[in-house]
Amino acid sequence: MAKKGVSSGENLPFGEKIVLDNWNHKNIGVEAYQDMHRRTLTPEFWEEVANELDWFRKWELALDDSNPPFYRWFVGGEINASYLCLDRHMKSWRKNKVAIIWEGEPVDGNGNPREVRKLTYYDLYKQVNRLATVLKRNFGIRKGDKVGIYMPMVPELPIAMLALARIGATFTVVFSGFSADSLAERMNDAEARLLITANGFYRRGKIVNLKEIADEAVEKSPTVKNMIVLRRLPEMDIPMQEGRDYWWEDLMAGAPENAYIEPEPLPSEFPLYILYTSGTTGKPKGIVHDTGGYMTILHATMKWVFDIKDEDVFWCAADIGWVTGHSYIVFGPLMEGATEIMYEGAPTFPEPDRWWSMIERYGTTVFYTSPTAIRTLMKFGDQWVKRHDLSTLRILHSVGEPINPEAWRWYFETIGYGRCPVGSTWWMTETGGIMISHLPGYALIPLKPGTNGLPLPGINADVLTEDGKPAAAGDKGYLVLKNPWPGMPMTIHRDPDKFVETYFSRFKGLYYAGDYAIKDDDGYIWVLGRADEVLNVAGHRLGTYEIESSLVGHKAVAEAAVVGVPDEIKGEVPMAFVVLRENVDASEDLRKDLHQWVRKTIGPIADPGKIFFVSSVPKTRSGKIMRRVLKAVLTQQSLGDITTLEDQASVEEVKEAYRRLKSEIGE
Ligand code: WTA
Repeated sequence: MAKKGVSSGENLPFGEKIVLDNWNHKNIGVEAYQDMHRRTLTPEFWEEVANELDWFRKWELALDDSNPPFYRWFVGGEINASYLCLDRHMKSWRKNKVAIIWEGEPVDGNGNPREVRKLTYYDLYKQVNRLATVLKRNFGIRKGDKVGIYMPMVPELPIAMLALARIGATFTVVFSGFSADSLAERMNDAEARLLITANGFYRRGKIVNLKEIADEAVEKSPTVKNMIVLRRLPEMDIPMQEGRDYWWEDLMAGAPENAYIEPEPLPSEFPLYILYTSGTTGKPKGIVHDTGGYMTILHATMKWVFDIKDEDVFWCAADIGWVTGHSYIVFGPLMEGATEIMYEGAPTFPEPDRWWSMIERYGTTVFYTSPTAIRTLMKFGDQWVKRHDLSTLRILHSVGEPINPEAWRWYFETIGYGRCPVGSTWWMTETGGIMISHLPGYALIPLKPGTNGLPLPGINADVLTEDGKPAAAGDKGYLVLKNPWPGMPMTIHRDPDKFVETYFSRFKGLYYAGDYAIKDDDGYIWVLGRADEVLNVAGHRLGTYEIESSLVGHKAVAEAAVVGVPDEIKGEVPMAFVVLRENVDASEDLRKDLHQWVRKTIGPIADPGKIFFVSSVPKTRSGKIMRRVLKAVLTQQSLGDITTLEDQASVEEVKEAYRRLKSEIGE
């Protein structure tokens, strides 16, 4: 089993420093940066940033901190995210600038894309206004309504999000790889009235029948009364339920060409969206983001982290179903009037140079992806990269998980030709935007392979010990954010108590990220991975409890325990230990069935790498699964310091469990 990854924090290149000559104009020393940083930790600093946005009405109070941790930013201000991304550009030359260059996945015989669409800001503006008209007139969607979106990576996805933001409906996007059950769970929690989806899409050369999954979900989502279905695949016929389902194209054809819907002036703290993410329970949490604070952090980070300019061709190669896509495909780049790339399919289709060919085809300048993608493409070898001219690139960043120094160096040297700043931007669904990163657009400090860098201006991040003291340089501790920031989560939808408990109780009053981190001698932060029962598989967050409750939901399963083990490509993969019910026999067919079951109840991303049948799972006396023992068994590690194991389980019991499991799974 591979033991790569950086979760131990050992062998990280804390002392290695790379200064890029070609960025001299922005290069400053660490001390100069920190001096500057100290002066930015005030709400007044953020007011200056927010002032660069277009508000319908200016705020009266920058930060309302009267009811912590329910902070409110720019209170009294009125704003609209759709206006910021579209209407604002209608008044300038950017009206006819290309906003989105989209490629569908299929290619012709020469490997060239079959479908390329270029949409200008004016095109987007018209489509958004038409869809907003449809939403209001045909479906009576109003300010405050909740709407679900379950769509592939096509331009109509940002169009739907912008149309809903325009009329003040709060949307919740569900990743198109999630199952019907996962979709239904989210629709029910959000109480969505309407679901916007598509008939299908291409992924790895195959067709995914999205509408079929949506149909199954809507059967279990009583609040959803209607579906709008985009005909992404013109040739694909699907059943449409009379009176419930409507084709996107038919509805749009029924709205006037010059339709216009006034963007709602919304209070700054109006919930723009709810995005579900995994936590330490079996149920995903609906993170609620505001509008004014969120757009402010996006504006700041587009400038500081990505140094976005009109000449740039920006590409965030994430999926809009995750927060990275919400922030850095939809709202961030569009509010800045950038030209960006959007791609429907897999990075390795039809060959492992699909992304490099797209960088060359469109002259991409700023590129943002995940360490898992980098490691995957690195494995295919440099010859795929060398076929293409990547000299237009000027900034590279990664996100979602720690980037191991080896992958960092490959990204830096082979993709960036050794002259682009390469960063690892740390943030979370909850933080709305990037919190810790190199800042080529603001001030650049020396790079180090694998670090996240220093906290952004206005962001007060620190690493604390177990008892809440600042951790010594080089020591592993817990990452916290000490000050409120614009873009911070407002609450967990329908569960404010959980919000307080999850994020603001571990270290009283401070935001607890749930990550382990090390601060080095220069103050650089190195996030090592999750400190809780959340897994990070290929940059995607998954709760161990979610996978366990899926398995336990199968009729053959009595008990299940899931742990993550290090993986060379994906960073981490879930492994499951399963205790079968009495009278059920273990078999290969059953194992296959359980894999299928997890895929069906959560989605393919949650499918365990392996499922082991065991006679029992070791637990402490208070009933907690001894995950460390399970992990040790799988990674061939010794039990280490088991005396610190949670509660009361005796050393003998632990050793016994370890021995038994090892022999049961035959490792
Ligand atoms: C991890 C993704 C190390 C971290 C934007 C965090 C990272 C979780 C990095 C959030 C990074 C994200 N280096 N770890 N640059 N970026 N993480 O909510 O564990 O999908 O808590 O947001 O990903 O994942 P989420």
